[in-house]
Amino acid sequence: MVCLGNICRSPLAQGIMEKYAPENWTVDSAGTSGWHEDERPDTRSILIAKDRGIRIDHQRSRQVNETDFEIFDVIFAMDSSNYSNLIQLAPDEQSKSKIHLILNEVSPIENRQVPDPYTGGQQGFVHVYNLLEEAIQSFIKKH
Ligand code: 4NP
Repeated sequence: MVCLGNICRSPLAQGIMEKYAPENWTVDSAGTSGWHEDERPDTRSILIAKDRGIRIDHQRSRQVNETDFEIFDVIFAMDSSNYSNLIQLAPDEQSKSKIHLILNEVSPIENRQVPDPYTGGQQGFVHVYNLLEEAIQSFIKKH
């Protein structure tokens, strides 16, 4: 699960995926930037996750790296900026093919974005949570 800062959207995506995924899946999140290296998720993400019964406060931000393309089978980008940055970082074609916009799990080909909630209020985080839950449940159903 990849966003820009790895403190707002992707920690929520990680927490939701961990809730619904089979136990033998490895789930993680990272940011295309290293701006918030080793920070815990934004308090607004922690709050909406807690409201929905998910704990994410143990997560720590890290930057995505080339090894992620070896470890993971699927890499979800939250928006098209994250997507482009991941494509640039991917070492080969097989790695590029692992990268998907997460909302295409709900509405394929439309390339909808999970909006960056960082500069807004709590309602933006609730919206992000709801978008992510729908996309992740849709992905899980197909796998
Ligand atoms: P995220 O949100 O990519 O969902 O973690 C952001 C967090 C921090 C910043 C931007 C977006 N920032 O500019 O520091």
